[in-house]
Amino acid sequence: MTERTDQRGWTVAVSQHVFPETVAELRAAGLEVVHRDLDEPATPEELRELVADADALLCLLTDRVDEALLRAAPRLRLVATCSAGYDHVDVAAATARGVLVTHTPGVLHEATADLTFALLLATARRVVEGDGFTRAGRFRHWKLEQEQLGLDVHGQTLGIVGLGQIGRAVARRAAAGFGMRVLYHGRRRLPAEEEARLGVAYAGLDQLLEESDVVSLHAPLTPATHHVIDAAALARMKPSAVLINTARGPLVDEAALASALREGQIAGAGLDVYEDEPEVHPDLLDLTERVVLLPHLGSATAGVRRRMAALSVRSILAAAAGDPPPHCVNPEAAQAG
Ligand code: DGY
Repeated sequence: MTERTDQRGWTVAVSQHVFPETVAELRAAGLEVVHRDLDEPATPEELRELVADADALLCLLTDRVDEALLRAAPRLRLVATCSAGYDHVDVAAATARGVLVTHTPGVLHEATADLTFALLLATARRVVEGDGFTRAGRFRHWKLEQEQLGLDVHGQTLGIVGLGQIGRAVARRAAAGFGMRVLYHGRRRLPAEEEARLGVAYAGLDQLLEESDVVSLHAPLTPATHHVIDAAALARMKPSAVLINTARGPLVDEAALASALREGQIAGAGLDVYEDEPEVHPDLLDLTERVVLLPHLGSATAGVRRRMAALSVRSILAAAAGDPPPHCVNPEAAQAG
């Protein structure tokens, strides 16, 4: 990859701190890199300044790539987001300007499914509460009616909203490892053979909410999925049910969730993502029983994050060499602009 010489002339803007080897690889390939090597996400003004002369932008999911940013980048040909989700990129505006958009699927779904199960078990079995209890010196003896009695997981019904790569990886764990009945809801129903292979059954959203002991969200954020879990959806769930969200925060109306938890309409929630990330709704912060809050850790293993960065580099090098970049969500942009 670093032996290419035909991409000279491209300037790559890198919006935030990334692994040093990521920038080194781009430079070794002969690209000029303008690196805003800071931990904090850039303001819109900083980002506009950064991309003014850039041919490619390597960004993260905390960077908003909108029409105003694209307008400020007349040379831009590629936005490579180092994330699987690309709801922070205005793809239609990029396509209209002939800007390709690439993302990093295929390397983070297993890790995100692992984290989903960690969150599911931590929430249902009250792992974080138990840890605090033990550290506080309150564990005096084992008793039948222990303080942290949790919810059954094995053999229960799991409802998956959004059966993409991550949803399927969660379904496999649930069926094979935890003997769960798995319902799914999504835009498309799978062919019967694939449902049988995965051990999943299609359900309408209302049925899934009503029958599931655990509801786990894995849909992308789109206008159709925004607040898919609102007050009405929460009211359909069982009082003993748990909601898990490792997808995108705005899938859930957090104010409605906090009130459903307070009123015992559902039993618990495990969240890795937030409506106004990194802010967490203050009412959720007040809830500690069967509520577990993580800082967007879905893909956070050292290996996975490096594989995501390597995929972004591959996209940039391919596009700079005039080749179609891998994992492009708008290949038609090559004809526009
Ligand atoms: C992604 O890549 O979209 C994930 O949310 C990162 O964990």
